[in-house]
Amino acid sequence: MAKSVTKSLLDIHPRELKGIIKEIPTLPVIYQELFQKMQEPNVSVPQIAEIISKDQALTVKILHLVNSAFYGYSKEIKTISRAVVILGFQAVRSAALAISVFDYFNGEDSSQIDMTQFWKHSIATGSICKVLASEIRINQQEEAFVVGLLHDTGKLIEKRYFSEDFEDLCLAAQEQQLTWFDAEKALFQINHATIGKAIFRAWKFPTSVVDAVQFHHSPDSATQYPQLAALAHLGDYMAYPLGYPSPGAIPPQGCNESALKLLGITLDDCQRLVPKFKEDLESSLEILNLV
Ligand SMILES: [Fe+2]
Ligand SMILES: [Fe+2]
Repeated sequence: MAKSVTKSLLDIHPRELKGIIKEIPTLPVIYQELFQKMQEPNVSVPQIAEIISKDQALTVKILHLVNSAFYGYSKEIKTISRAVVILGFQAVRSAALAISVFDYFNGEDSSQIDMTQFWKHSIATGSICKVLASEIRINQQEEAFVVGLLHDTGKLIEKRYFSEDFEDLCLAAQEQQLTWFDAEKALFQINHATIGKAIFRAWKFPTSVVDAVQFHHSPDSATQYPQLAALAHLGDYMAYPLGYPSPGAIPPQGCNESALKLLGITLDDCQRLVPKFKEDLESSLEILNLV
């Protein structure tokens, strides 16, 4: 697997990102086939089950995840078809999206940032987004979880394929006490949110995920899925005081006011939801077993 890309982040203009991303190995074809199929309006359960069952390892992992406390179903689900029927396409798609990204970055070392802390921050953000979505009655709880879970994937692309730039970011963030986003702003023209967008678009992820990940630090600019982007922003913000900070940089210095307004929630409301966040988190952290 190519471990570095020909250019440094220093030289990359946002317009060039799409071309650079092509140098990065893609997800296995089965995932792309699956995500594309699941976006078709008339897709059937057997069609999805057939694609997944072509890959034994994926089948086992999806069943493991849907049988975990995270989905809270008490009877054992033994086949993918049943998983789709009982939990729905959305849940199975979320499980597959999570597994595909975890598999892709499997074995990433902790020399620059603590990877366990990175995944815990991701899972915590996903959990918080899911609880918030249910509290404010947004009908996209699965989507919210996935967006929270994957919001910082661009950082892993930086770490794996632009490792010298990643090192510089770690140093800048620590020495100048910056957030990761501000360190990126100081050093480069692109950041982990735009990289996340480019990579997920190339991997044919659902547009909602692509869009919300792109705008998780600038929810004001989201036009297609502003609520999901606002949720990802708030979920990320709340993960820090809950004890699940992202490694390598200082916490965000504030929460975007218009994101709160759009969601119709205040930081005091969020504070009251902390016990619920924590409860959901406990079962979500089981996902770490997949990493
Ligand atoms: Fe981020
Ligand atoms: Fe984050």
